[in-house]
Amino acid sequence: MCGIAGYVGYKVATPFVLDCLQKLEYRGYDSAGIAFTQNDSLCRLRVLGGVDNLKRAVSQDVIDSSVMIGHTRWATHGRVSVENAHPQMSNHHDVAVVHNGIIENFDNLKAELQSTGVTFESQTDTEIIPNMIHNNLTGYTDTQILDALQKTTRRLQGSFALCVLVSKVDKIFATARFSPLLFVKSDYGFMVASDLGALPNGEKYKLLDDYFAVISKEGISFFDKDMQPVTLQKLDITNTQQDEGHLGFDSYMAKEVSQGGDAIRNTCKNLIESNALDIACTELFTHTFRIVITACGTALHAGRILGYMLQKECGIECVIDYASEFRYFPPHIDEETVCIFISQSGETADTLSCVEFAKTKQARTLGITNVPTSRLAGMVDYCILSSAGAERAVASTKVLMAQLAIIYMLVQKICKILNKSCEFSFKDILDCANKLDRLKSVSKLDKITRILQHKQSLFVLGRGLDYLTALEGALKIKEVSYIHCEALPLGELKHGSLALFNNDSYCIVLMTQKHLMAKTINNIHEITTRGAHVILITNMDVSVDVDYVIKIDCQDTLSPIPAIKVLQILALKLAKIKKIDVDKPRNLAKSVTVE
Ligand code: F6R
Repeated sequence: MCGIAGYVGYKVATPFVLDCLQKLEYRGYDSAGIAFTQNDSLCRLRVLGGVDNLKRAVSQDVIDSSVMIGHTRWATHGRVSVENAHPQMSNHHDVAVVHNGIIENFDNLKAELQSTGVTFESQTDTEIIPNMIHNNLTGYTDTQILDALQKTTRRLQGSFALCVLVSKVDKIFATARFSPLLFVKSDYGFMVASDLGALPNGEKYKLLDDYFAVISKEGISFFDKDMQPVTLQKLDITNTQQDEGHLGFDSYMAKEVSQGGDAIRNTCKNLIESNALDIACTELFTHTFRIVITACGTALHAGRILGYMLQKECGIECVIDYASEFRYFPPHIDEETVCIFISQSGETADTLSCVEFAKTKQARTLGITNVPTSRLAGMVDYCILSSAGAERAVASTKVLMAQLAIIYMLVQKICKILNKSCEFSFKDILDCANKLDRLKSVSKLDKITRILQHKQSLFVLGRGLDYLTALEGALKIKEVSYIHCEALPLGELKHGSLALFNNDSYCIVLMTQKHLMAKTINNIHEITTRGAHVILITNMDVSVDVDYVIKIDCQDTLSPIPAIKVLQILALKLAKIKKIDVDKPRNLAKSVTVE
């Protein structure tokens, strides 16, 4: 949430910072801004909307500064407005700050500053920071500025990644707590950003919590919590998060939906080559009585499928819950519990707070993430990486496919450890991925899209595993098409929701579990009898009286893979026909780093 970027070097900073911000736009795109040093003063430019608007504004000016910080915002405190856009400045316009995160005690600190005469032009939690730094400044040496920054951050509660400019000083000062900040020493200069994938090639470093960095034309220096100079370890990873552009598709989301098969194949290949899965399984699941799974959004849907499989195939009791609700209904967790956390970004605040909670209970922890440098990867006892490559669209699609690959392989391994038979083989998973490639355009979906685009509300329904698939399908449809879409277990309809059905209602029904076919067909009759329309997604050859049938080719247990892809394509088509920018759905951002 919110992307921050900065450049110091011997070149004009603007293209580097703007390019970096553009790559961070999935973190927020309601406003953007830059601050830079020019002729011994601090200048600032802020606009509403995305980085393209900022680029247009920048092109009207001559900016030849080689020291710059930038921000792309997802509003938390304060509505979307130029005043609330970052960089935020001190009253004296001598300190500029870009911030990612949330300051929980900003109300008190703001009142304190106001009582000393500081005025505020924004409603943000951030504006207190440049003013506090200003008040703490005793001079303009690196030591004095770092000291002012540390005095300030010691009083902040919450999470933050901060980049700071001070007038007349051609350097960026940075610090972070519970929020990622990465640095690169590249051929073009020195840069800082919220995400690895936004940075150019070069030696990369990640800042530790409450550490500090100073970026100058000569290089980057790091300091620990006691302000002692430290050498951070170079990140020893191939950059799996590099932005490869749209590759000829009209959006990142369209490209990423098409890459679902690759995400599964690459993940399977890398899991086999590394022995991370074998080690984690042997260590964690040989004597496990309980598993607790938490995550948010799409990752939670992957978690629900994992929980279903673990109970059904392995016979292990599982508790699955939203990470944001977990602490209000905490399940019993002790040293014999394995807690599994799933997160594409590995930075989701709610999920990370559950990891901390599990650790206080001595639980053993397993993380599944797509970002090797993420906080989640560093916090858990065992980490299994998906290999989907960078996911740029806000809606998660290909990473879910990679998570499903991990889930199926994990379940298979646990079955082996527990001497239980498993309904699917490794070859079945790969076959399923290959069939996914052939599912590129489901022709009937164009016709269905033309009908559904005018609906205010839709239902996605199923029983058992199909209900879990429905949850993800409904989320995808609502987040990019803005059509209200509700997932329900089919059997629940007659306990209330059937009251909504009439001849204008449309339901997408999933029927991929042979043992549930008869019950599902009965439910379809209940729906059509009320005049409602049914679009059936099934892997069976059945004759049911519905409006449309979309056939998928897969065995029952693996059906979430192709069925979710069909629903991803439908969501894309609905968004396209409604002229919605799928990569920037309203009110959403990727990487939800605030609770
Ligand atoms: C939906 C979507 C979100 C994320 C959720 C968790 O398409 O992308 O629901 O799945 O915000 O994010 P991660 O997986 O990064 O923890």
